[in-house]
Amino acid sequence: MGKYNFDEIIDRRNTSCLKYDFGIARKGRDDLLPLWVADMDFRLPESIIEGLQQRVAHGIFGYTDSNEDYKNAVRGWYKKRHGYDISDEWLTVVPGMVYSIALAIKAFTEPGDSVIIQQPVYYPFMETIKENGRKVVNSQLVYADGHYEIDFEDFEKKIVDEKVKLFLLCSPHNPVGKVWKKEELTRLAEICKRHDVYVFADEIHCDFVYSGYKHTSFMTLGEEYLDKLVLGVAPTKTFNIAGLQITNIVIANAEVRLAFKRENNKAGYSQPNVLGLHAAYLAYSKGEEWLDEVREYLQGNLDFVRSFLKEKIPKVHLIEPQGTYLVWLDFSEVCDNHKDLEKLIVDGAKLWLDPGIIFGRETALFERINIASPRKIIEQALVQLYDAINSH
Ligand SMILES: Cc1ncc(COP(=O)(O)O)c(C=O)c1O
Repeated sequence: MGKYNFDEIIDRRNTSCLKYDFGIARKGRDDLLPLWVADMDFRLPESIIEGLQQRVAHGIFGYTDSNEDYKNAVRGWYKKRHGYDISDEWLTVVPGMVYSIALAIKAFTEPGDSVIIQQPVYYPFMETIKENGRKVVNSQLVYADGHYEIDFEDFEKKIVDEKVKLFLLCSPHNPVGKVWKKEELTRLAEICKRHDVYVFADEIHCDFVYSGYKHTSFMTLGEEYLDKLVLGVAPTKTFNIAGLQITNIVIANAEVRLAFKRENNKAGYSQPNVLGLHAAYLAYSKGEEWLDEVREYLQGNLDFVRSFLKEKIPKVHLIEPQGTYLVWLDFSEVCDNHKDLEKLIVDGAKLWLDPGIIFGRETALFERINIASPRKIIEQALVQLYDAINSH
């Protein structure tokens, strides 16, 4: 028994919670069990909550900036947990990862230029490229024998053919749950270097890997790959503080950093949010034990989902995740088109998941389920799914 009780069901309704409070606005109904957006239904440890309460009690929330304590906490975390150093000047604090992706697109490409992604992938990648008038080039991950692989030849060919300028890497990969190996990342890095392609490495899920796997940061692949690298890491997924909007961008190359910062200035952003900054500082300094227990709990949830599906709904195939708390499910044995699948999930099972179609055309018969909730909630969702499939 750990120190923290993640079985506790905490009511998040009526807190302007995106996951629970916007069913009517987004789905036209409020009777769905929501396991879609990527945050966790777990409460932070008291040490962090108390630290925030003390800051709130001060009562003044004027302009704030990242001080040495903050930077040291960030540097300490990524050194200890992921094995790399962040020099003082490499760090830029911004409000979000997708915000940073948009800045990188504007800083390192021109309108009409190509940006490469690997679908199925976190859908704002594609949306942000399009919204900024750039061209989406997709090197589809190859799905075979129940798992995903990179087609390196296709990746390189598309980079050359489409004159790609920027690669948006998702590592670990949302939604397929891959924790990319060092050799795979190095091959990608080598191809990008050969063709002068900038890399934005979104490592927002880096702190969630299951036992037996290890996250390799793009930062650790070798100095020769740092020149055109923009690394994004954040405490928001790790410590469940997405609503406090704080992201760390790490850029080693001074010119690249300047170009990124210029876009940040153009967007009119300067100092971070006071509570976000403080929460991140507290979490990086005091949250390690809590996170390790969360990871253990998620491992238990994953084991639960795997056994449930195997025993009760073997037609739904789990793509075994190596990392992230997002689980990718293959429904192709249950439905043969995405409209029927959506009907089954929403009208039948009364669930709100992320449908595979939004991650790319080829994954219309998949669903993404967020397992970062008390086990009872996950069980409830699976029972609803079981009942819906049985009466399908
Ligand atoms: C890969 C990935 N990047 C970025 C984000 C969102 O980050 P932010 O809220 O900081 O824009 C998510 C959230 O699910 C994600 O999965």
